[in-house]
Amino acid sequence: MEFSFDLNPIFPERISLLDHHLRLSRKVTYGSYRSDLDEQLVTVINRMGEASAKAQLLSASITTASRMRTNKHKLYVLRDSRANHGRGVVIGFLKVGYKKLFVLDPHGRQNEMDTLCVLDFYVHEALQRHGHGRELFDHMLQYEGVEPRHLAIDRPSNKFLCFLRKHYGLDSAIPQVNNFVVFEGFFRQRPVRG
Ligand code: ACO
Repeated sequence: MEFSFDLNPIFPERISLLDHHLRLSRKVTYGSYRSDLDEQLVTVINRMGEASAKAQLLSASITTASRMRTNKHKLYVLRDSRANHGRGVVIGFLKVGYKKLFVLDPHGRQNEMDTLCVLDFYVHEALQRHGHGRELFDHMLQYEGVEPRHLAIDRPSNKFLCFLRKHYGLDSAIPQVNNFVVFEGFFRQRPVRG
């Protein structure tokens, strides 16, 4: 995804992590504060959200800068710094966040749980099936210190289900009554949240 401005000051690393204040997880000093970078960041998030919604045939974006600010979600953004004549391109993003969910176990018992959820995931059409999704997902797993089977996935698309099966061997879902999908092993050896 290309933009008319330089993405490299906004996303200083190959994978940057933004919190719900739209701040980078690692403090980067630009010299002096630049409000244009804030505006550009909002543009990028909104464009990424639109592209993801379009790819999933959704009527509205589930990732926007304003929704980021009102929910405590985190956004991992993967970029290529050299493309687009050195201005960089956004390859894709992954949004996660903790949610209180009622999750059915394999015996049909309901459990109220605070669980890390995958909420939105998108790799640019021209760059899919090149391992970028895996790179983003692995980075998130490592940073969050979580195993794939302990995640809840919000309405996964068919592509995402194939992705989870291929890379992480997740193929046996435990039936739920909400839109989230959890897999076998979800309830086993869950880490205690500090
Ligand atoms: N059809 C079927 N499976 C696919 C497809 C496709 N068109 N594209 C990717 N996959 C799966 C396959 O398992 C594939 O392996 P294969 O090529 O050997 O069959 C594997 O993903 C490839 O892995 P990566 O290259 O690491 O993944 P990629 O960079 O393509 O990213 C993603 C995966 C994010 C799902 C991407 O395909 C995408 O953006 N799809 C459109 C948007 C989308 O569906 N997002 C998920 C919405 S649901 C949610 O966010 C909770």
